[in-house]
Amino acid sequence: MSKTTIGLIGLGTMGAALASNIAEKGYPIAVWNRTGSVTTAFHAESGALADSIVPTQSLQEFVDAIETPRAIILMVPAGDPVDQQIAALRPLLGPDDLIIDAGNANFRDTSRRAAEAGDLPFLGIGVSGGEEGARFGPSIMGGGKREYWDRVSHILNAISAKYQDTPCATWMGEEGAGHFVKAVHNGIEYADMQMIAEVYAVMRDGLGQDAATIGKTFEGWNEGPLQSYLIEISGKVAQATDPDTGAPMLDIIEDAAGQKGTGRWTAIEAQHLAAPIPAIEAAVMARNLSSRLAERAAGEALFGTAPTAISDLPMETLESAMIAGKILCYAQGFAMIEAASEQFGWSLPLPDIAKVWREGCIIRSAMLNDMAQALAENPGRNLMVAPAFADLLKAHHGALRQVVALGATHGIAMPALASGLAYFDTMRTARGSANMIQGQRDFFGAHGFKRIDGHPGTHGPWAM
Ligand code: 6PG
Repeated sequence: MSKTTIGLIGLGTMGAALASNIAEKGYPIAVWNRTGSVTTAFHAESGALADSIVPTQSLQEFVDAIETPRAIILMVPAGDPVDQQIAALRPLLGPDDLIIDAGNANFRDTSRRAAEAGDLPFLGIGVSGGEEGARFGPSIMGGGKREYWDRVSHILNAISAKYQDTPCATWMGEEGAGHFVKAVHNGIEYADMQMIAEVYAVMRDGLGQDAATIGKTFEGWNEGPLQSYLIEISGKVAQATDPDTGAPMLDIIEDAAGQKGTGRWTAIEAQHLAAPIPAIEAAVMARNLSSRLAERAAGEALFGTAPTAISDLPMETLESAMIAGKILCYAQGFAMIEAASEQFGWSLPLPDIAKVWREGCIIRSAMLNDMAQALAENPGRNLMVAPAFADLLKAHHGALRQVVALGATHGIAMPALASGLAYFDTMRTARGSANMIQGQRDFFGAHGFKRIDGHPGTHGPWAM
């Protein structure tokens, strides 16, 4: 075969799916994996795509198979493996060859790698959509120099998901901008998943509904304003039965959530930026707490079970609470992106970010198209005050309040929904309570404060 258009290193689940997607879109691809048998098996199983895939057994053979200037995608585990792979690869490449890290990298690593690359071409792109997305159309968030993005954008557009024919692949900005946007995507993903889990708890523990009934409700919600991939799969998860025992699958899954760290990165970064994302932070915290199974069992033995039974709660109220919660968690994510844009000088395109999330990614949802429009019409403003979403919040925050109040009185923990509500209430309160904090700070540390009555002076009468 003549030389391939592109190369890909790392044939794990995501890498293999992405390589097949690229081959299927008509771009011959060379592949290499550290364990050679994986490469051989991948090629052997690639069926009709086999002619477009060149399996290689050494890095040199891999590099030699790709047309110059080369474009090489890395799909190796985030962290040290990426640095090691780049170190092994660079000596074999020419000065115009482009390395694209398409794994779930921490954006700070991507910015560092871009700086270390100097004039050597490097891109860091966030790819969302899980295995199915990678195979049939992911959402792609690019970061690095624009000229490098432009070199491969035709391929990335071709393999990406499409929203009404528009490719879900967008250049976000320089350095680690693409991986930063992907991290916030994952933060929103965590909050959205957590909120769904919280309303599930209300249905199961508060209302005594079985998993199949709950699944049907999610299925119904997926026809309305909450239409989204996560609601859709929640309906499917809740309605599935274990083929071995016939039990509802959901009932036999241990309630300890795993995490690979992207949500945590988002929460940590939000603190660095002083960007308030309480619903996302609450979702990360909830995953951490969920894994403390023994401690939770001991807590239940000590304090007894909470009085969870709720006598009546219409499903419409729960749906309405979810609508408000969802808007608030997206509003927090977009506000964090805005803060990073200023901090890092990236000019992140908020409306385009909403657009690139409309298809292919895990948080794809019907609301994102309206969000794209609202962000375009209200630059620099929080999504929650954009007229269309302010109207929705006016209509739905009462239900969120009702559900969170029920959670509090019935002992059903709702960290994400409650944090979303606290964010809403804080953001709609012109005179809050931080005057007390300022008084305290001045009392013990003479830190000073600003008066609002026009009188001079920045300290209270409590000087020692
Ligand atoms: C995506 C997902 C993906 C994520 C894993 C699991 O956009 O395709 O966000 O990138 O890493 O699905 O993440 P956790 O293990 O952190 O839940």
